[in-house]
Amino acid sequence: MVMLKAVNIKSCEGLVSIEDRHEPLHQRGVTIWFTGLSGSGKSTIAMALEKALFEKRNPSYRLDSDDVRLGISKDLGFSKKDRKENIRRIGEVSKLFVKAGFIVLSSFISPYRSDRDKVRRLHEAENLKFIEIFVDCPLAETERRDPKGLYKQARKGKIKNFTGIDDPYELPVRADLCLRTDQLTLEEEVTAVLDYLECNQIIGVQCLNQSDSTSQNPKVIRSGASV
Ligand code: ADX
Repeated sequence: MVMLKAVNIKSCEGLVSIEDRHEPLHQRGVTIWFTGLSGSGKSTIAMALEKALFEKRNPSYRLDSDDVRLGISKDLGFSKKDRKENIRRIGEVSKLFVKAGFIVLSSFISPYRSDRDKVRRLHEAENLKFIEIFVDCPLAETERRDPKGLYKQARKGKIKNFTGIDDPYELPVRADLCLRTDQLTLEEEVTAVLDYLECNQIIGVQCLNQSDSTSQNPKVIRSGASV
């Protein structure tokens, strides 16, 4: 746990509420957290979703691993401790964007369940929405794709602590949505997320016969299935 070092600190509410901010944006702020192996398709889905939301005039912002690791997390590597701190920082940044009313698309391996759960709790403690999406793709397929050639290097032992090879990935147990990216098209994946956002009244029209996004049962989307 990161301890608070500063003393005499008190959060200030301000005069504009989160609800006030949501109204002119015609949406509710939310963090959509994409978790999964390297090469599973997290960033690809986030980019396509960002474009789709932009075309619908829904303000969103994407946080992606390489950008973050070149900036606010440039002092961190891939040890368990560093990954934990990476996810903590991204969780805090995501929360700020949600408070501003944005749909935040955060794609990070985030291999440890407890770290992902902490980010969820960070949001829920302030009544902010958080959706965990498991970008589910078998290791054999992510290794076959190997978009950055990193699996090959990890297999040769040139990269240590590589997720899925010699470092763990803890499967989500309370994901709100699971997308089997080895079975779906990108279009189907984006549609599944947009439908989820509409049905949970985050964007677009209200969908009265659907439960809230805090549902315990994840929707598993495979090829040919509808939401
Ligand atoms: S996380 O574990 O802290 O969530 P993050 O998503 O930021 O990881 O970064 C993962 C990306 O860093 C991968 O997609 C890959 O391109 C690169 N990378 C470099 N080294 C590693 C490693 N040891 N394990 C996983 N990904 C790595």
